[in-house]
Amino acid sequence: SERSLVLVKPDGYARGLSGEVLRRIEAKGYTLVALAVTTPTRENLARHYAEHEGKPFYEPLLEFMSSGPVTAAVIEGQGCIPGFRALAGATNPTEAAPGSIRGDLGRDWGEKVQKNIVHGSDSPESAEREIAIWFPEL
Ligand code: GTP
Ligand code: MG
Repeated sequence: SERSLVLVKPDGYARGLSGEVLRRIEAKGYTLVALAVTTPTRENLARHYAEHEGKPFYEPLLEFMSSGPVTAAVIEGQGCIPGFRALAGATNPTEAAPGSIRGDLGRDWGEKVQKNIVHGSDSPESAEREIAIWFPEL
């Protein structure tokens, strides 16, 4: 069935929020099918964020995402791609609804990059592409 690629970004990992994010995923009813802790390479991040190349936040984003470990997961369940996006909340944590991961646990830290704790695939095509980057063995 449907799969999505979830990252607990370096800010979330450093704050010890990996367990909280995974708890919410499992409590929602999605299944963890792969899990890893890894410090992303620039090469993989350039592939992952290819759609954002050239945007003003691209370089700060790659710098931030390669700054430390992330927790990467493949999750599974009907509707888990939009379902996890709903769990995550709006990209900007200040605007994210309370009840969501970003709304409950995130804030504006006054930095160039929006440190917003998690990433989740935004479409079936993105999910397939991203899972191949982070879990080539799957
Ligand atoms: P992801 O789940 O991480 O992909 O977030 P998203 O899909 O909600 O946002 P998007 O893919 O548009 O952007 C990827 C990441 O770049 C975001 O999660 C933010 O960390 C950062 N970002 C996106 N838009 C902006 C922006 O306008 N300003 C800044 N500073 N950062 C941004
Ligand atoms: Mg995105």
